[in-house]
Amino acid sequence: MATATMQTHKREAFGSRNVFILSAIGSAVGLGNIWRFPYVAYEGGGGAFLIPYLCALLTAGIPLLFLDYAIGHRFRGSAPLAFRRMHPAAEALGWWQVLICVVIAVYYAVIIAWAGMYTWFSAQLAWGPGKEQEFFLGDFLQTADVAEGGLSTTFLPQVGLPLVAVWVVVIGIMALGVKRGIGRANLVLMPLLTVMFAILVVQALFLPGAMDGLNAFFTPNWEALADPAVWASAYGHIFFSLSVAFGIMVTYASYLKRKTDLTGSGLVVAFANSGFEILAGIGVFAALGFMAHAQGTEVSGVATSGIGLAFIAFPTIVSQATGGSIIGVLFFGALVFAGITSLISILEVIVAALQDKLGWARIRTTLTVSIPLAIVSIALFSTTTALTVLDTADAFVNAFGIMAVALVAIVVVAWILHKLPALQIHLNTRSSFRVGILWRLLLAVLAPIVLGYLFISELVSKISEPYSGYPVWFVAIFGWGMVVALVVLAILLSLLPWSARSHAKDDPEYDEFLLDEQYDPDPETGAVHLPAATESGARS
Ligand code: ALA
Repeated sequence: MATATMQTHKREAFGSRNVFILSAIGSAVGLGNIWRFPYVAYEGGGGAFLIPYLCALLTAGIPLLFLDYAIGHRFRGSAPLAFRRMHPAAEALGWWQVLICVVIAVYYAVIIAWAGMYTWFSAQLAWGPGKEQEFFLGDFLQTADVAEGGLSTTFLPQVGLPLVAVWVVVIGIMALGVKRGIGRANLVLMPLLTVMFAILVVQALFLPGAMDGLNAFFTPNWEALADPAVWASAYGHIFFSLSVAFGIMVTYASYLKRKTDLTGSGLVVAFANSGFEILAGIGVFAALGFMAHAQGTEVSGVATSGIGLAFIAFPTIVSQATGGSIIGVLFFGALVFAGITSLISILEVIVAALQDKLGWARIRTTLTVSIPLAIVSIALFSTTTALTVLDTADAFVNAFGIMAVALVAIVVVAWILHKLPALQIHLNTRSSFRVGILWRLLLAVLAPIVLGYLFISELVSKISEPYSGYPVWFVAIFGWGMVVALVVLAILLSLLPWSARSHAKDDPEYDEFLLDEQYDPDPETGAVHLPAATESGARS
């Protein structure tokens, strides 16, 4: 509690609710929307994927987004602090989320660096027509087989140097803080991204063969719906895409003013993110339709899977379309901007957690967190085995990091700590869109069933055969070892004492937050009114 003698710490805040919304959209709209969604959707049955996708969005994505907002705002802290304030034993859940962000940050920066280089390559058609795959996997990444040579230590300057540049830019933004750094970066980059993306999609739609691509994207393959893996990828994707369940929205919501429309903001963010995503699917498939048309083949023959869709198929389109360089610069430039606004939100989870726990100043924490992360990122991913490490870390951190922590957090919050009613009141007393019993049921009943099922089926499938045919030792380290290490480290971090200077102890505004029992539901209508004193708080 703050006292007259104790130096108090004022928690950082977004400049306004609109800046928060823009930053939350900036976090959500990222590589997941442009690089991952189109191929996940295509592999998941094209148009039929929209069904699991929408189910995942409505039954898990949005309810969890509201939950993250409620936790971050109600407990006014980074993930470890917010969970600790909910219950001291829950702190490890917050650290688990922080560590998931550590893993994502180190590989996320690499894809931004690739995209940066490809923006440049597009302008000059550097790969040479017909050589796109060879260029990406051979000349650019010089991909080596881990099964043959083990982990590589060969440094590739064409990846390492842009990666250094990405880290310098994001560290600069992070060091400026929430309002001047993150808020302003989103104010500049998000409108730019939207304009670039809109031009790109329109341009793609006018390419010959675009409609064939859209048909391939939207024509449902109903058989895919019977495959649990398709549902797993829809749920896994929606968490990653919306930035929920790994601390980002908890942290961002902790920077909001006392009275803010939380659910209304959440709906704007969720639908903006999905709108972007579906637009990306349309743009990418229109372009693939053109590519099939140019090669006289079927769209299914050109829609390569995985990481290749962005870095092999797109350059092919750039080579073949009139004005292709412009398409390439817009596409890869959009990936860079979307990636940066998401990467800063991922890093903020880590920086905020350490600031809260240690009470350090912004710049000191930013440098202490980001420099080691940048070194690991450059050391692991500027080498010839980067693609394999990235693919494995991404698959495992999604299935056994994000989905697992979402499952455990929901069970803890709903079933062990019984916090959903209080959090529902917290949302409803300040939001335009009221959540009811359905929200609680979706979180407490449906989400654990679906997530539990998906978790087990992912576990069975990844145990039964080595992931992607990679060597067992490799998957044991970068897959299983990594996800187990996250849990163990999270528990250890939660056991470390909070510094005497911790920001958790001296936030004058946290005490102003009402305790759950102070909410006063109307005995007749059940409506809840905040006491007059807090109704007058500034609405942002
Ligand atoms: N939400 C971010 C993305 O979609 C992490 O890439």
